[in-house]
Amino acid sequence: MVDQETWENTVLQKLELPNGMEASNRIMRAATWMGQAEENGRCGDIIIETYGKIRAGVVVTGFHYVMHEGQTIPRMISNSKPQDVEGLKRLTEIIHSSGCLAAAQLVHCGSQSLPKLTGTDVVFGPSDMEVPQSDGEVVQVKAMTVDHVENVTQAYADAAKRSVEAGFDVIELHGAHHYGLWQFFDPTYNKRPEDDPYTGSTIEGRSKAMVDALRAVKNAVDVPIQVKVDSSSKIVTPEEVGELTKRLAEAGAYCVIFSGPKPAQNPKNVGEAYFLDDAMVIRSIARDSGLLFGLVGGIRSPETVVKLLTGDGNSTAAFDVIQLSRPLISEPALLHRWTEEAKTGKQEPARCISCNSCFGAGDRGKVKCVQFEGE
Ligand SMILES: Cc1cc2nc3c(=O)[nH]c(=O)nc-3n(C[C@H](O)[C@H](O)[C@H](O)COP(=O)(O)O)c2cc1C
Repeated sequence: MVDQETWENTVLQKLELPNGMEASNRIMRAATWMGQAEENGRCGDIIIETYGKIRAGVVVTGFHYVMHEGQTIPRMISNSKPQDVEGLKRLTEIIHSSGCLAAAQLVHCGSQSLPKLTGTDVVFGPSDMEVPQSDGEVVQVKAMTVDHVENVTQAYADAAKRSVEAGFDVIELHGAHHYGLWQFFDPTYNKRPEDDPYTGSTIEGRSKAMVDALRAVKNAVDVPIQVKVDSSSKIVTPEEVGELTKRLAEAGAYCVIFSGPKPAQNPKNVGEAYFLDDAMVIRSIARDSGLLFGLVGGIRSPETVVKLLTGDGNSTAAFDVIQLSRPLISEPALLHRWTEEAKTGKQEPARCISCNSCFGAGDRGKVKCVQFEGE
């Protein structure tokens, strides 16, 4: 049980951002594709209504594609052209109206991009290879030329500029979940030769696409930048992600959020906060980087949130922010419920049972909690 004083001194502590802005608490809504943008990626009334209900210190939007060729899923937010700013502006206005800061998550999905959505014949990624897509189809991926990677890097910067024009307070780069920036880091996808600047055979080369995107965004806009990374993969060790994390700090990130290659697991099977062990290894390597650290993945109870924010008594193991995704699909104002319950001394965990039916609902037209809202 968490008492009210502890709750206020941990979860409700303000989060100070490097530019002096403050988030009102330590809970971030994790980036969550809601399948609610319009077919052309514009933010219309449906998605705006959904974002109006979410409460968190920082609300990270579902991923925005920075180039249309990098779209992976229907009704994903577009941040690829000037005309997108109008809808993005509505999005930040509704998020701000609830007292939350707004973060735009930017992505190019690389070899996970879906030709039937992007209208291109070819899917581009780090290397030539066959890759199964999210819809089960296997496609032939073509290696990006160096010029092409540089264009994508520029697209991140352009999308960041549009985001700031639209009122976003924070940029989150999506460096996780087998999408473009992660693919360059992961030798499963990156088989570029040793003489290529983005080579898959050194940590330097593998980190370059992510670090360059971060630097380009940093040069383009004056807002805090955070990066979501996987803490390991089949062949990438947490120690290697530690080396990447140090480079992200040097390139100007203020915060790194640790996720993993199977992001949406069931904590009933694998325990709460299921990326914690790998994240702790990474943190021990990047300890002196000056970064803030965030964790996402299967965090469901107020007790666990507080334990993570305090390091369970060891302040050097404490996380600065906690991200929640599925719990806020089911209960967008969960933070308010927990805060009210803290006053009574009895907090119930998130009602989300991690069934992942929300994904299927998204495929059918709109992400929602099927358990509690029905099909
Ligand atoms: C419907 C749905 C959409 C998601 N969309 C994104 C996304 O756009 N970007 C991202 O980084 N992660 C996305 N995720 C992963 C979540 O941000 C999070 O990492 C994962 O669900 C684990 O956290 P949780 O246990 O709090 O749900 C999505 C998850 C769900 C369930």
